[in-house]
Amino acid sequence: MNQNSAPLLEAAQRYLHIDHAPFYMPGHKRGQGIDPEFVSIMGENIFRLDLPELPDLEDPIAEAEALAADAYGSDRAWFLTNGSTCGVQAMLLATCQYGDKILIGRNCHKAAIAGLVLNGAMPVYLPTDYLPEFDLDLGVSPETLELFLNLHPDAKAVMLVSPNYFGVCGDLTKMAAIAHSFNMPLLVDAAHGAHLGFHPDLPISAIQAGADLVVQSTHKVAGSLTQSSILHLQGDRINAKQIDRALQILRSSSPNLLLMISLDVARRQMAVNGKELLTETLKLGKAARSQLNKIPNLHVFSKREVPTLDDTRLTVMTDCIGITGFEADEYLHTQLDVMAEMPTLTQLVFILSLGNTETDIDRLVYGFQQLFNKKGKKENRKLVPVKNYELRIANYQPKLTPREVYFAKSDRIHINNAIGRISAESLCPYPPGIPLLCLGEEITLETVKMLQAILRSGGIINGASDETLETILVV
Ligand SMILES: Cc1ncc(COP(=O)(O)O)c(C=O)c1O
Repeated sequence: MNQNSAPLLEAAQRYLHIDHAPFYMPGHKRGQGIDPEFVSIMGENIFRLDLPELPDLEDPIAEAEALAADAYGSDRAWFLTNGSTCGVQAMLLATCQYGDKILIGRNCHKAAIAGLVLNGAMPVYLPTDYLPEFDLDLGVSPETLELFLNLHPDAKAVMLVSPNYFGVCGDLTKMAAIAHSFNMPLLVDAAHGAHLGFHPDLPISAIQAGADLVVQSTHKVAGSLTQSSILHLQGDRINAKQIDRALQILRSSSPNLLLMISLDVARRQMAVNGKELLTETLKLGKAARSQLNKIPNLHVFSKREVPTLDDTRLTVMTDCIGITGFEADEYLHTQLDVMAEMPTLTQLVFILSLGNTETDIDRLVYGFQQLFNKKGKKENRKLVPVKNYELRIANYQPKLTPREVYFAKSDRIHINNAIGRISAESLCPYPPGIPLLCLGEEITLETVKMLQAILRSGGIINGASDETLETILVV
């Protein structure tokens, strides 16, 4: 296919100049009825292209989706305007029903737990591997998957996250083959992987590895607007009609055309110039790593230490200089206008993508030099009260499904009295949005300690009905 074309952008451009009497939605009628100050800030064209699904845009949308499938190597692609959240839920609704069992990585995003509330399936959580020296989640290993598949051969599907928030990818080629040998489809939440497959120095994409359904947040690491994602289908284990049916339930009936146009051009950019642009991004990553690693005690791991790493993700270990990622984030953000993606108790994670420049890297390195001078000379303190590992292997088989818990009667009790009870809420540090405690899991002391430590350090716990975490809802 001609990857240089952008059918949706081309169709939209024709609409820029069409002069007609608009009696359709949205109500601002191509910007004529919108707040003038907003127009002066945003420009007129954005409103002229904020169009509904007009009949003559249907074909260009289908063509743009076909080009995306071609560029990424899938058999069919769907543009999503409600993020990978919608894609993760569509994958779950399309493959599992009420009462089915699904094997799902315990490092899944909260969107997957919501998907399980929708489909009523029983999750069997797959524990993830853990690298203690970097407090790093390595995702599910092929050995773990095989072990659990032997224990649960009656499951309907396998869902994994790859890459994870730290850029660590799983051995998806092996895991697709293992899942398929049990006649199960492999669904991959590749929200952080829309750039994979376009450069030989990056890990391969989930589609290249043979996954059946893959969702990618094009907006996170490629060049499309926030909330735009693509869902891909490969092979014939899952019928495209099952996806259409799930999307009928999940999608807005008014998808945003601007988001879809941005997906069309982001696909063109990746397909035509991706390799060249990613070469520059990878160069920036290399430069940042080598300069940051020169700061005493600071460490940024790379592919040398974590071979399945996407090198465009930078994780700076801040515990080595005696401060939490939250403290480092606060300082860099408020004092030097350097904004990270995610702090944790031990790290600060930065996303590098096509939009970053050498100047950004200089500011980042300068920021850490300043941070080290100001704060990096404290005695090394013990920063992590509980290592993630205990949490990741604890609760692999919940007692109730997320759906049963969501609709169950719950009581609010003091968190100190909640140990051993079943949680009626999912609690996730945000980012990354991975529940430390899922709906239906038993509450453990380690989980509570970890959540409290994150809150004390300045982190945000998403999903908590009591933001202070003094009380919690239990079934
Ligand atoms: C692993 C993972 N999956 C899914 C999502 C949801 O993606 P979106 O924000 O595109 O809805 C996220 C968001 O951060 C994520 O990290």
